[in-house]
Amino acid sequence: PLDSSAPAAPLFKVNSPNVEYTDSHILSKYTYSNTVVNKQADGSMIVEPVEQQYQFKTERTVPRVGLMMVGLGGNNGTTLTASIYANKNNLNWRTKSGVHQPNYWGSVTQASTVRLGVDSKGNDVYVPLSEMMPMVNPSDLVIGGWDISSKNMAESMERAQVLEYDLQRQVRDEMAKITPLPSIYYPDFIAANQFDRADNLIPGTDKRAHVEHIRKDIRDFKAANGLDKVVVVWTANTERYAELIDGVNDTADNFLASVASSHDEVAPSSIFALACIEEGVPFINGSPQNTFVPGLIELAERERAFIGGDDFKSGQTKFKSAIVDFLVNAGIKPVAITSYNHLGNNDGKNLSSHKQFRSKEISKSTVVDDMVAANDILYKPGEHPDHTVVIKYVPSVGDSKRALDEYECDIFMGGRQSISVYNVCEDSFLASPLIIDLVVMAELMTRIQYKTADMAKFSNFHSVLSLLSYMLKAPMVSRGTPVVNALGRQRSAIENIFRACVGLAPNNEMGLEHKIW
Ligand code: NAI
Repeated sequence: PLDSSAPAAPLFKVNSPNVEYTDSHILSKYTYSNTVVNKQADGSMIVEPVEQQYQFKTERTVPRVGLMMVGLGGNNGTTLTASIYANKNNLNWRTKSGVHQPNYWGSVTQASTVRLGVDSKGNDVYVPLSEMMPMVNPSDLVIGGWDISSKNMAESMERAQVLEYDLQRQVRDEMAKITPLPSIYYPDFIAANQFDRADNLIPGTDKRAHVEHIRKDIRDFKAANGLDKVVVVWTANTERYAELIDGVNDTADNFLASVASSHDEVAPSSIFALACIEEGVPFINGSPQNTFVPGLIELAERERAFIGGDDFKSGQTKFKSAIVDFLVNAGIKPVAITSYNHLGNNDGKNLSSHKQFRSKEISKSTVVDDMVAANDILYKPGEHPDHTVVIKYVPSVGDSKRALDEYECDIFMGGRQSISVYNVCEDSFLASPLIIDLVVMAELMTRIQYKTADMAKFSNFHSVLSLLSYMLKAPMVSRGTPVVNALGRQRSAIENIFRACVGLAPNNEMGLEHKIW
């Protein structure tokens, strides 16, 4: 095991009276500047710049972290696990195009940089995002988890048909050592066509007993691997929506009572989320279903446990949340967004069932709402582009998902612009790096605390980790908080909150020093 007692030396240190590095923490004092707009009855606005003092406290020691995936034996679970082994052991593999080296491309924390500042000549200086704060190295993650399929990870990796054979060959022995833990299967929640896979099940129908079983699995995994922390990610099949019923899942206590009475509307993913909340382990939902029914969110808040979701934002939606932001901010009006997908992996098979498709359709559909609402020159109140999403299961394309999008726009003086996008990519190569970002950032959020002037002591951030929105299609936010889907804004939030934690002002693109005499 790594020596996790001493923090690693950071790539940079901030030299400022507002920042202090102790052996255990980075302490920063930070002035948060905001602009409050008061709309008057006559339509005019009074605008006030406001400032609030914050202190941030970040634990410097990076703990030994376990990642437990629900759906470990699936395409994402196996691709991510094998890729982490390949990175950790620096394995090279050969294809007809030559020798390949492992990397973490597609992970915003591991493969992107941020502008730290300017040098003495005014040139931009960039650093890896992963160096902004003390973060877990994904190659150090200890991996485990659950699946309703009993195949070991080597067999599952082969079934997934994602990684090149020469790499599969090299990780096979290590992968074969992991067999997913038995999981919870309530057949009604996933497609009937998944039944053949379900041969690794926790027995019984008592839902409270299932929660206890999962809690014990987490504790045992932690103890067996000498872990300081665990993060759990749901990358199992998309479930149908749970019906929201008053008295059943509307409040924390009603939800707990429904689990105690093994109510039909409590989904497996909600059982996992509850187990994590009760263990104080962050839980992230990478699928679109409403795992976080209102009662469960209330419970997470009551227990101050971290939760995040929903649905990995990997391909089509990520592109959409960038291009629609660009179009609307360029003064161009998308009037129709039409998206077709076809895919041939097990996710596609599951989504060929209507109720599961419906979960995905809902999660893909709200993604442009905030961008449209932000521009009342182009859109009247309540007006929306037509937005249609189609998903078809075509087994022969396997994991190589095809996404076709047409953006139909109204432009200058009655003109029309049609933009067509065709995306082809192994789906699991897009989703796996997002799992890394979700885990790395969720873990980091367990080590950051804040305090405002009127607070007596430091507090954790809010239970609902909206900072993870960049990686999620239908970002969950705390009650009363507006959802931000625009990709650029989501990334700025990450960058600038990390900057605040080391006492730096938010990045702005003013470049004043280059615009004056
Ligand atoms: P997959 O079907 O290959 O893997 C899912 C795994 O979950 C399977 O091995 C299955 O046996 C297992 N499973 C089902 N119910 C379970 C339960 N109750 N407990 C434990 N295991 C269970 O699917 P893939 O491609 O890995 O995707 C996983 C999820 O991530 C899907 O819900 C998908 O919609 C979501 N997702 C994937 C994206 C991507 O791959 N680009 C993007 C966005 C979301």
